[in-house]
Amino acid sequence: MGRLGKNDVVSIEDLMIADIERIFELADSFAAGLERGETLDRAHGLIMATLFYEPSTRTRLSFESAMHRLGGAVISSADMHASSASKGETLADTVRVVGAYADLIVVRHPRDGAARVAAEYAPCPVLNAGDGSREHPTQTLCDLYILRRKKGQLRGLTVAICGDLKFGRTVHSLIYALARFGANIVAVPYNGMNVPDYVLERIAAESKYGLSTVTMEELRSLAGGIDALYLTPNAPHQMALFTSEVPRGVAPPAAAPPAAAPPAALDAFYLTRLQRERMNDQEGAAGTYGHFDVRALKTSRTHEAVVMHPLPRTDELAYELDSDPRAVYFEQAAAGVPVRMALIAWLLEQNGTERMRPVAPAPAIRFKAHPAPRCSNPGCISRHEGAYLVPRFRLGRSSDPSALALVCEFCERDLKVEFVGNARTHRYYRFDRNLYGYVRSWIEEGSLAAFESVKQAEESGYEPYRRGPQREIMNAEEVAAACRALATQMVADLPDLAAVTIVGVVSHGAMLAMRLRDLIEAETRVRPPCAALDVFGGEAAFHPLDDGAADLEVEDRTIVLVDDVINSGWTVQRAMTALWQRGRPAAVKLAVLIDRGHRAVPIRPNYVGKNIPTARAERVQVRLAPPQGAAAGRAKGQDRVVIYSMVESLKEGEGVE
Ligand code: CP
Repeated sequence: MGRLGKNDVVSIEDLMIADIERIFELADSFAAGLERGETLDRAHGLIMATLFYEPSTRTRLSFESAMHRLGGAVISSADMHASSASKGETLADTVRVVGAYADLIVVRHPRDGAARVAAEYAPCPVLNAGDGSREHPTQTLCDLYILRRKKGQLRGLTVAICGDLKFGRTVHSLIYALARFGANIVAVPYNGMNVPDYVLERIAAESKYGLSTVTMEELRSLAGGIDALYLTPNAPHQMALFTSEVPRGVAPPAAAPPAAAPPAALDAFYLTRLQRERMNDQEGAAGTYGHFDVRALKTSRTHEAVVMHPLPRTDELAYELDSDPRAVYFEQAAAGVPVRMALIAWLLEQNGTERMRPVAPAPAIRFKAHPAPRCSNPGCISRHEGAYLVPRFRLGRSSDPSALALVCEFCERDLKVEFVGNARTHRYYRFDRNLYGYVRSWIEEGSLAAFESVKQAEESGYEPYRRGPQREIMNAEEVAAACRALATQMVADLPDLAAVTIVGVVSHGAMLAMRLRDLIEAETRVRPPCAALDVFGGEAAFHPLDDGAADLEVEDRTIVLVDDVINSGWTVQRAMTALWQRGRPAAVKLAVLIDRGHRAVPIRPNYVGKNIPTARAERVQVRLAPPQGAAAGRAKGQDRVVIYSMVESLKEGEGVE
């Protein structure tokens, strides 16, 4: 390992309070040395690599300056678009390679959890310079350093954190740190950009801390001298807001101060810009973002507050504030050099030993069954590096008894699982609290399976735990007649078959797609291209179903999406998303073998093989014989459609295998 131990800083919680205090001590001495123009050789012989998959001014340049100031060297990929990442190299491969060229890697990445992945694969320490909307721990070191310098200490301070608290990664790291240092946090989200639940759950679990959320209007009322709104702590650890009951530097009180306590001061406003790059169009369009100017500092409770911002700013912070001594954001940015020097020096002080992580994560669930559940957060690294990253989850806490709560190991977002299964018995169940004990034992034996839908469970070869008697509603002749009806409808409706591509949803939809393509060819001598779309598991994937066919073209094509039955509409919705991610089709039409006639399903099929109205609690299962020549060794079977009443929940006290 050389001179640095494998001590990654992925989260601010990878540093203990004593570590942070030591880093500040070192930063003080480096700041004084920089003032005196001292040169240092503490990091002589070390090389730091900066890998920035997202733009940066402060973080990258101050890290690089810090390493130079310590006498070390820097190699930099400031624009990963100009690196082999643009050829598709994975993050894991990149950091493994760069780890052979450098002693330390600083990485910034747009995906949540990317720094954790980099740390797992790099042979050297990894410092997180911002990963998606998740964390930015070294920015928090700069923020805390300046806040402490301005206010003397951190414990007991009241900090209003304003703006985009949902996607602001600097905010999340700062909240974790302030909670541990015993500061009061007033969350002031603009536009409903609230602190995410996973952040709140973490501070509640680890620091027994609950922060208070107020609107900008409420904050203005408070700051303006109206005492009517009084905020009380919801955990003993947290002190009442806007009170002077708690002297600085002492342990927090065990109980809330009386409601009539006089309002006290705010110590800091921490402002953030709207993180537009993390939003979808709808989020970005909603409402207006706040604008902070000197008026906010004119009240008796705010006139001593410092104004902080991690920068860059857009238009949320007035330029007129820049000359005000309470505006400390440029000092935060300047602190980037001594603080990051101190972090590197602190790593050197570990003398090549690897420390225990202060917060040990709970063990991840091993999903033996395929497909493993996938994270629900589209920004999670596990959704983008699926070639090698197996999604990892641990058990979460859920207030919903009808869903099993899992927490993604990479991004911490919740996944609510409605259907669980046992890989040993190949049975699936609708989850409810009676199953929880069984689920825990299946986790222990590595046999838990989790499904997003009944269809996914069945596609994976699982049978329901219990179902009503089944009855055949279509035999092989009727299935063949329904396919012919579908092909005829398509030929009549689609004037230019040369512009049509047939896409079948794996697995029965794909088998039907091939049959329809053959029927259309027999009738018209036109053979439309045909592909399978796998929407289950990780990223949706297209597979051409024509020998030697080129990659699937979507742009300006008329796509006929084929599925056997629509149940909840989940499959078709995911397929539509996958299609639109691939390109802009001229039109998308939907063909289904069986239309159950559910008015609640949002997508109406254009082409229907047979209408079979069914009750919502009924399940229609299509079984198709594999195509000629396929599935050697498998029982051929016959086409058949059956109906049965849906899976039932486990009853109280009932045992399962
Ligand atoms: N505060 C911060 O992270 O700035 P950069 O994006 O310029 O690095």
